[in-house]
Amino acid sequence: MKRVRKAIIPVAGMGTRFLPATKAMAKEMLPIIDKPTIQYIVEEAVNSGIEEILFITSPYKRNIEDHFDRSFELEERLKRNNKNNTLEMIKGISNLAKFYYIRQGEPLGTGHAALLAKTFVGDEPFAILYGDDIIKSEIPCLKQMIDVYEKYDCNVLCAEELDNYLIPQKGIIEYEDFFSLKVKGLVEKPKLEEAPSKDGTLGRYILKPEIFEELENLNLVNGEYLLTDALLSLMKKQTFYACKLNGKYYDVGNQFGYIKANIEFALERLDLKKQMNKYLNEFVNKDN
Ligand code: UTP
Repeated sequence: MKRVRKAIIPVAGMGTRFLPATKAMAKEMLPIIDKPTIQYIVEEAVNSGIEEILFITSPYKRNIEDHFDRSFELEERLKRNNKNNTLEMIKGISNLAKFYYIRQGEPLGTGHAALLAKTFVGDEPFAILYGDDIIKSEIPCLKQMIDVYEKYDCNVLCAEELDNYLIPQKGIIEYEDFFSLKVKGLVEKPKLEEAPSKDGTLGRYILKPEIFEELENLNLVNGEYLLTDALLSLMKKQTFYACKLNGKYYDVGNQFGYIKANIEFALERLDLKKQMNKYLNEFVNKDN
């Protein structure tokens, strides 16, 4: 069985849910406290054993490339000022993995973005991580999924049990077997009473290279080629298992998810925890 060592991170979307912040900057660069969203995602990939990362990017997202590149001027200044810890931290970002970039000329959907990675991936299994999904967990989410891949030698989806109100808004997993989590299909945005399970998928996938044949044959739906459609076609030919997420998922591409992530991450930071707790307690107990 081939090891999963390559990942693609599509970051070429328009981020329309986060306007006007995303008019001139990448939503993936919006920080959770003081670290850009995209760095959390790259660190998850690297801590799961990924060595090479391809960003599917766009002309409006140059600051993502800059973020993962060296910054000699800044490094020189930090060195001169003896800020050695900060210097090491900054240098570490560009050494996290081998980074590659391809531009998606037009944001024609997640399926179109993924197809651009065909040559990079070659004939290996690979991971896709969406640029606006952050997961907090003890064992990195992608590592949890790689363990499932290594057990069954199959494609892997990430499953999160959803509150009822979210089920009609998400892709819901239909299981062939609820115990082993073998997947039969996916139902997009079902009515609650018609949902095949309570498990939604999130922006993490481990896929076999055969996905590219399906991506090449996608049809345009409402102006986009969707990765989900390619997954559905591949499910007819290959095995998929789900990995139940052991951790907490934040969709930081929407405002509430973004605010929640900032608060919850701050509550875990040693340097902020005390102040944050005090502030939140005072704030909620005050007459608002
Ligand atoms: P989303 O649908 O969440 O991102 O895509 P979006 O299109 O930027 O968001 P909204 O709905 O307009 O606010 C999931 C991931 O796929 C990337 C996005 O950048 C995001 O990381 N994506 C999406 C692409 O790279 N290309 C596309 O054509 C669409």
